[in-house]
Amino acid sequence: MSVFPAVSPGSAVSPGSAASVPTQADLLAFVRHTAADAELIASLPLDPEGRTWVRLEGPGGSEAWLIGWPPGSGTGWHDHAESVGAFLTASGELKEHSLAARLPSDGWKTLELSEGVDRERRLTAGEGRAFGRHHVHEVLNESTEHHAISVHAYYPPLPQIRRYSRSGPILRLEHVERPEDWQ
Ligand SMILES: [Fe+2]
Repeated sequence: MSVFPAVSPGSAVSPGSAASVPTQADLLAFVRHTAADAELIASLPLDPEGRTWVRLEGPGGSEAWLIGWPPGSGTGWHDHAESVGAFLTASGELKEHSLAARLPSDGWKTLELSEGVDRERRLTAGEGRAFGRHHVHEVLNESTEHHAISVHAYYPPLPQIRRYSRSGPILRLEHVERPEDWQ
């Protein structure tokens, strides 16, 4: 199951908005504002068997999603190519594992990570983060009982997602998803 399905061609920057390309701060403000919409958050269907999502209209032509995470679900390691983004937990709690390292964009299948590049943060309801280009992470709901719900926004809309497996310090590129793969 893809975390980020269906980027529609119509999601590109709309006429007139090119002068206000959304920044990381804009995206974080958007996910914070959206997560405070209790009615919207409550409208997301939840499924104990897998993640659920609803596409939202992000600011300035950004790609935005409301995502439901059943207990024990996660994304696996991935990146967001050239897009910057932000996400924020609306309810429940999420864990993010990320890498404080810039990965080469092409020409490799495995990398051995050096010590000290792993980062971890816990995002309880109302907590979020923004990230820059080439951010590599995995997001998890480690709860055994409770769903989590989060709001995400990316700009530009995701052109691809590279997916990795991780074994200790070894990161292996498994495949690259492009919008046509999840439409
Ligand atoms: Fe992500």
